[in-house]
Amino acid sequence: MIDTIKWTGHSVRIIDQTQLPNKLIYLDCRKVETLWGAIKTLKVRGAPALGIAAAYGVVLGIRDYQGTDTAAFVRRVCELCDYIGGSRPTAVNLFNALAQMRGLVLYNPDKTVAILKAVLEAEANAIYEEDRAVCRAMGQYGAGLIHSRDTVMTICNAGALATADYGTALGVMYAAKAAGKKFKVYSLETRPLLQGARLTAWELQKNKIDVTLICDNMAATVMRDKGVDIIFTGADRIASNGDTANKIGTYMLAVLAKYHKVPFYVVAPKTTFDLKIKSGKDIPIEERSAEEVTSFGFRRTAPEGIKVFNPSFDVTPHELISGIITEYGIIQKPFAASIKRVLAQQV
Ligand code: MRU
Repeated sequence: MIDTIKWTGHSVRIIDQTQLPNKLIYLDCRKVETLWGAIKTLKVRGAPALGIAAAYGVVLGIRDYQGTDTAAFVRRVCELCDYIGGSRPTAVNLFNALAQMRGLVLYNPDKTVAILKAVLEAEANAIYEEDRAVCRAMGQYGAGLIHSRDTVMTICNAGALATADYGTALGVMYAAKAAGKKFKVYSLETRPLLQGARLTAWELQKNKIDVTLICDNMAATVMRDKGVDIIFTGADRIASNGDTANKIGTYMLAVLAKYHKVPFYVVAPKTTFDLKIKSGKDIPIEERSAEEVTSFGFRRTAPEGIKVFNPSFDVTPHELISGIITEYGIIQKPFAASIKRVLAQQV
């Protein structure tokens, strides 16, 4: 699988996803500010990749730290975590990774700065490695839901470009393909930033999965006229009751799936759960700039001065979700109880 994000020892190397599918360009972020900008502008994106980027952002921020006073160093790490946390609000993976990094220094005030620096780098590497392993586990659990000759649907990009390995929702498809199953996929283009068209279509095509691109507003017609057997999506934050925030359009897809009786599965690791919140009402939804909606590349597609609403994510109520595929297995309804049971065992 392609290396979406990687620590080189002195920089965080990412694929500049804003250039795909036209150019495959790698970008070396040597400063935390560069990485912050890359997160903000979606050069690196997708919830698990954002968690990894956040952890390495801390490593970048402390690399040139010269002082030897541990208390001052701890303050610096906390400042860095706050700064990185201000980049994008919805994917909880980013905040979970930062909490892990912050916790390390807060709970080790007796260690030297040199040791803490090494420990932070090792922790970021562990977050990266863990994501690789959990992608594979989710893929194995989910692959059984796909049968040969099935038609699958997905939205946004929850694949290799969103993780350290082969993805969450797309990981399930890669695992099914590896098991010899032949199926086809409809990828929604995912307005306004076209992650489905630019990234998922590119990624699945490159990996020889039979993929057909459709505009978001074609999903209902495809479900009714072509027959869709199952839908898989990723997630940016899952509340304790199973309500799930994912790319804008996911809720619409779940509503359509219910009407057409298509099973709707969310694929996400433990790091995407936010057990501090009861329901989706508490999930912060990122709103992005009006230009993403009023233009296509450099071309204006809406009148000057038009009012725009551009939420980047929406919340799918848990009632519309058939199951949540995690690295521990498929979480079934009732979600509140099963999420608690499955995740509580794993702390
Ligand atoms: O705005 P993006 O591109 O970061 O949104 C990404 C998504 O909504 C993905 O579906 C989600 O992060 C899961 S990625 C495995």
